Amino acid sequence: MRELRERRRALADRVAAGAGPAVARQRALGKRTARERLGLLLDEGSFIELDALRRARGEDGARPHTDGVVTGSGTIDGRRVFVYAQDFTVIGGSLGEAHAAKIQKLMDLALANGAPLIGLNDSGGARIQEGVMALDGYGGIFRRNVRASGVIPQISVILGPCAGGAAYSPALTDFTFMVRDTAQMYLTGPDVIEAVSGERVTHAELGGADVHGRRTGVASFVHDDEESCLDEVRYLVSMLPGNYLEPAPAGPPRGATADERPALAEIVPVEPNRPYDMRLVIGELVDDADVIEVHERWAANVICCLARIDGRVVGIVANQPMVLAGVLDAAAAQKAARFVRFCDSFGIPLVTLVDVPGFLPGTDQEHAGVIRHGAKLLYAYCEATVPRVQVIVRKAYGGAYIVMDSRSIGADLSLAWPTNEIAVMGAEAAVNLVHRRALAAADDPAALRAKLVADYTERLMHPYYAAERGLVDDVIDPADTRAAVARGLAMLADKQEGVQARKHGNGPL
Ligand code: HXC
Repeated sequence: MRELRERRRALADRVAAGAGPAVARQRALGKRTARERLGLLLDEGSFIELDALRRARGEDGARPHTDGVVTGSGTIDGRRVFVYAQDFTVIGGSLGEAHAAKIQKLMDLALANGAPLIGLNDSGGARIQEGVMALDGYGGIFRRNVRASGVIPQISVILGPCAGGAAYSPALTDFTFMVRDTAQMYLTGPDVIEAVSGERVTHAELGGADVHGRRTGVASFVHDDEESCLDEVRYLVSMLPGNYLEPAPAGPPRGATADERPALAEIVPVEPNRPYDMRLVIGELVDDADVIEVHERWAANVICCLARIDGRVVGIVANQPMVLAGVLDAAAAQKAARFVRFCDSFGIPLVTLVDVPGFLPGTDQEHAGVIRHGAKLLYAYCEATVPRVQVIVRKAYGGAYIVMDSRSIGADLSLAWPTNEIAVMGAEAAVNLVHRRALAAADDPAALRAKLVADYTERLMHPYYAAERGLVDDVIDPADTRAAVARGLAMLADKQEGVQARKHGNGPL
């Protein structure tokens, strides 16, 4: 027995130590090992490893234990998660049959236990030597990603290369983190691109963290180093329920229902076209800057963040007047749509802050399919059954007013500031259009225009117009916004709304 125990222990130590020279190379690239990463992500001593001794089939060639991925379960702030960490030091973290089977087994366990799934990706993609079995392995992962979608939160963390099919699993999950300088995602790498088209491009230019964080929207979060990245994953998990049937973890109530915030009235200028930073408004509404912003740099004209108000986790969608005057465009609509759907699948109430001049006009946008992308946001809100509170801070024009969670598409509570301007379009534009002939014929067009604008504003755009017609529940003092939203969320806390029976809707994709 002693000998058997010693042999077992020696094997376990060898597996845990990993591959020597490759570990040094990993460090030289500024990357940590799979086990070091798990140590940063999980509560100390909580990790239970599975399948550490698993090896590739067959007798030939290198068959290292783990097969290039460490899988198991641990806790984050005491809450269970299931996690896999690809080990680039073992056959480049490439995905073969055994590697894929380990991940699939873990995904099944996460789903059966109703706990978040976190994937730490660092891999050369499909293991070339294993041919079609590697492709089959990816297919099984994708199918499980989709089956788990909306049931358990799924988080992908990219800490190295993520090439070829490997990029599709993160794309199917809820959130993707990337680390600057070391992480890349692309379907075909620089070598293949040069061979096919002659184009020369670096790994970072093609699919680095900044490209995906700013231009493509593939990365939801970008970080400078692994430590801050994994720390932020822990923070995100602290905001999420374990599964769609659980409530998100609440913080202590903060007495927000009676909390006056006079600063709110100072932040927003009364003039509809003067910019300001909507983040400052959000900062006054939420508990202690308890905010995590998704896609901070991509489509920054709309802000999507998870935060707490009076201890309850909410999803905030807000126009950002600092960027493109806060218009909606194709990218902003896609970003907000995905976020609304995420919140709705996991029972997270939505708070929508509106200050929007409309959709961005132009051939570029129309030809980029702004109709299709805008419809995604419309569809997502129309479908959402979670508590929904709309706050109209200033202007809300046209289709963008409807799309930003108006009463007509299902907001449960609509509040407006006295600065609100809800209309088909701004007064100047409306008068120019409706009274074009009269203005052209007038002796003093400027005076006539001024009079017509004043008339239009008085009749159709005054701050109580929508409230008089029941489209706004109340016109509130800006300083009371945090309190009014908190009271609204408390009122709606037990909201139950059935969904239409059908196989599934056919929303625009
Ligand atoms: C087998 C692989 C591998 C792979 C890397 N390795 N990728 N082994 N299959 N896909 C091995 C290398 O041979 C090497 O082994 C070790 O891992 C480290 O790799 P290096 O190339 O030395 O590392 P580096 O210079 O950092 O380059 C990383 C890399 C490069 C850019 C990721 O390895 C690379 O281009 N790999 C291939 C990427 C790729 O085309 N994958 C297939 C994608 S297609 P030794 O023994 O020398 O240490 C795909 C289809 C799926 O995934 C489709 C599903 C829908």
